[in-house]
Amino acid sequence: MPIVSACCISHAPQIILDKPSNLEDFNKYVSVSRSIRDDISKVRPDLILFVTNDHFDNFFLNNIPSIAIGVGEQPYSVDASRWGRPEISYKCESASSLALKLLEELLNRGVDITALHSVTMGMDVLVPMYFLRPEADLPILPIYINDYVNPRPRPQRAYEWGKHLGEILKDQPERVAVIGTGGLSHWTGVPGKANYIDEKSDREIIGMLESGEGFRLAEYTIDELLEHGQHELLNWICVQGMLGGKSELARYFYTPFYDYVTGHAIVSFAIG
Ligand SMILES: [Fe+2]
Repeated sequence: MPIVSACCISHAPQIILDKPSNLEDFNKYVSVSRSIRDDISKVRPDLILFVTNDHFDNFFLNNIPSIAIGVGEQPYSVDASRWGRPEISYKCESASSLALKLLEELLNRGVDITALHSVTMGMDVLVPMYFLRPEADLPILPIYINDYVNPRPRPQRAYEWGKHLGEILKDQPERVAVIGTGGLSHWTGVPGKANYIDEKSDREIIGMLESGEGFRLAEYTIDELLEHGQHELLNWICVQGMLGGKSELARYFYTPFYDYVTGHAIVSFAIG
């Protein structure tokens, strides 16, 4: 079954802690996210495949794979008490049988992906779940790309991984909702950049997606992504590879939330 739904969403956690001063944009953001949430429900997915990045929940500087997939059978828990919101913690089943199939097929195709048999989930899943599937009633399949620690994979490589994933998923029976997480521009803890959002770069990225030219995101170099605070775009680029890189946007909203020092975006893609 081809992918039945695909979207990408920022995951900076401040947005679930406090409302920003720009309430008008916040309300628009929430409204678009609710529409995308409804769209996802309407296509009745069997599971959610997250393309995301670890934030030292599972890996650290001494050992971080370029790409990893969660294959364990135990449920995935997201403990939101770390962010002072225990009431929005989630526990979801694992889509382990499809994960093991993807692992096998990717290895057969020469993608040396790491198998994660237990996973600690972080805000990179919590925030998208909060906006897009708060019911937490679907199994989860997480794929982690190393956006965080040098040396990072090249954007073209993330796109190719996505292409393999899209091709493999077409032959599987499951109805898969894909959620890419992260972005847009931000510099966590970087001196001199802590309060900066690169709106020009963010709008260039949204513009490419608006034009149905998501494949062009893979033409950035990794140095260009890092220069513009777009390290987490690797997850979005992988999603573009899954979709073939030419999908039209179905819904989207972008705004630079300066209270959160992150360019926030939520986009969904027309499927089929
Ligand atoms: Fe992040």
